[in-house]
Amino acid sequence: MKYFKAIVAMSLNRVIGAGNEIPWHLPEDFKWFKKMTMGNVVVMGRKTFESIGKPLPNRKNMVLTRHPQRLIKEHPEIFGDYHEWRGGKYLKRPYQFHFSKIDGKAQTDILIFRSLDKLDPAEFPNDIFICGGAQIYEQALPRCSDLYLTLVKREVAGGDAFFPPFEDKFELVKELRDEPEFKILHYRHKNLTEEAPPKKAKKAKDANQGVLGLDT
Ligand SMILES: NC(=O)c1ccc[n+]([C@@H]2O[C@H](COP(=O)([O-])OP(=O)(O)OC[C@H]3O[C@@H](n4cnc5c(N)ncnc54)[C@H](OP(=O)(O)O)[C@@H]3O)[C@@H](O)[C@H]2O)c1
Repeated sequence: MKYFKAIVAMSLNRVIGAGNEIPWHLPEDFKWFKKMTMGNVVVMGRKTFESIGKPLPNRKNMVLTRHPQRLIKEHPEIFGDYHEWRGGKYLKRPYQFHFSKIDGKAQTDILIFRSLDKLDPAEFPNDIFICGGAQIYEQALPRCSDLYLTLVKREVAGGDAFFPPFEDKFELVKELRDEPEFKILHYRHKNLTEEAPPKKAKKAKDANQGVLGLDT
């Protein structure tokens, strides 16, 4: 069974956003986020996507909205630059809209979908990171095996987006970093654990092993 992973930065009083923005600027934390998500799938709510103002490059950006067409229509400055895939196998997928752009060797995708329930992490070879905001964390945390939490060592006044309680369902595995302004903590869900990928069968040393079905 494969699960989502969540990545978030929250203040001591659980703030993750204010006025549809992240209320701090911590370049080292951005670097950490980039390192973790690069080449993977990032899932975000429509408000977070609009707040970033563009897809995250070299990643599959999955944007959750109940009004996909409206999102596309309202942002020609984003979608105008992308190739839209129509029909084909993607019609059977949980996302109705697929845009992509190739820049040199890097490919950036935007997949717009209406329901988190239909998204199965097993369909993707890479990690799927739940990247916020508050509404999406709330819905997806029960399906996350891992939580990478940047704890920003300050109280933030005026926040309007908060990280939901998770402490009873997750346990701390490791403190990955401790900096003057923040620490990075790795939590794991108490009941959901990712299965290790199956070990590759050893190559048969002689033809008999193949016949015996040890290396078919
Ligand atoms: N500190 C961090 O690590 C971090 C990370 C990410 C975001 N943030 C902050 O979080 C704030 C945004 O969070 P938010 O909770 O206001 O918004 P959000 O979760 O980013 O997006 C909410 C939107 O997602 C769509 N949505 C939610 N549930 C859905 C469902 N079940 N099916 C279909 N669509 C669904 C809806 O879009 P429609 O209205 O279009 O239907 C909804 O309005 C911002 O301040 C942002 O900066 C912080």
